[in-house]
Amino acid sequence: MLDAVARSAPKFLKSQWHHRSSYAPDTATDGDRKEHDNAKHQTERALHDRRRDEHCDSSDHAGQRSINCPQQHFLNWRTGGQQVILEIVALCGSCVVRFLVITGAGVSAESGIPTFRGKDGYWRNIDPAKLATPEAFARDPRLVWEWYRERRLQIRNAQPNGAHRAIAKLAQQSRDLLLITQNVDDLHARAGAPAEKMVQIHGDIFVTRCSRCEFGWRDYAQGQEQENRDAQLPRCAECGALMRPGVVWFGEQLPWNELQQVESYLQQGPCDYVVVAGTTATFGYVIDWALRASRSSGELIEVNPEETPLSQFATRLLRERAAVALPRLVKQLIDQ
Ligand code: OAD
Repeated sequence: MLDAVARSAPKFLKSQWHHRSSYAPDTATDGDRKEHDNAKHQTERALHDRRRDEHCDSSDHAGQRSINCPQQHFLNWRTGGQQVILEIVALCGSCVVRFLVITGAGVSAESGIPTFRGKDGYWRNIDPAKLATPEAFARDPRLVWEWYRERRLQIRNAQPNGAHRAIAKLAQQSRDLLLITQNVDDLHARAGAPAEKMVQIHGDIFVTRCSRCEFGWRDYAQGQEQENRDAQLPRCAECGALMRPGVVWFGEQLPWNELQQVESYLQQGPCDYVVVAGTTATFGYVIDWALRASRSSGELIEVNPEETPLSQFATRLLRERAAVALPRLVKQLIDQ
């Protein structure tokens, strides 16, 4: 079992409201400033009055649909020949829709990447203790590297499917969303999921890192050619120890920074929608995150053709393949 890390992340400070105004102080006259202050005051009051009354809906900002409530207000006007641009961005924390999306191997299954526990899953034919533990690597690093190089190649040749694209769309259009993926492939990223909204909690297969020190790199671009050249066991340029794939193995702790990102997001408040797709939810922390995020009447939606330990807690079960169910679900979430 992977260890869930017990250390708690530092408290995250969240301000419910952020107001930012941009104004040209070096060219503005006193009259401009006064007018600016008055207008700003009136606009802020109007926003304040409206903010709790308005429903979160799909609105169009700068040509991009957004599923946040109306929270961006731009006022432009001219004063005395000078253009004074007042930009007030009012962020209404109380009506932003919050999402947590958790994905597993099932989401990449339709891109041709095998799952772990399904009928053709890796762990059906391979003993994880022989390939995915620090002990296995110490015993036979060449065998472990061979397996990871094969998987890298397979992933490079795969394409994102409808599930990845739907999640990427939701992530792009939501202001408050975190995608936690257990997948070490890069298909969410290639489908367009923004990096700052995504946590690869089990690592990244394209990272090569030192088994002893902090040295490492991400070598997706090097491609198969480099993989072949590296067929010799790669060694650390800093300390000479063996390099290893940058994934989490059984018996290892989850990566600290990624874990902190998850904790910070959960501490900011409950989510309105928690979508868990394509995972057996084998690990306690996956269930824990899903339940914590949906704790105050949030919807917990499971997308999986099969039952999992999380199914009993779900408020909506979509017993379908992720590439079929997710595009429809995301459309509903965006359109509502
Ligand atoms: P699993 O292989 O355990 O589970 C895959 C899940 O996806 C199963 O519940 C399937 O029913 C479901 N599934 C299969 N095809 C699907 C499809 N087309 N659409 C939707 N769901 C589908 O994979 P994970 O739960 O991701 O860890 O496994 C978790 C971790 O265990 C992995 O990250 C890996 C493994 O050991 C590491 O390598 C560190």
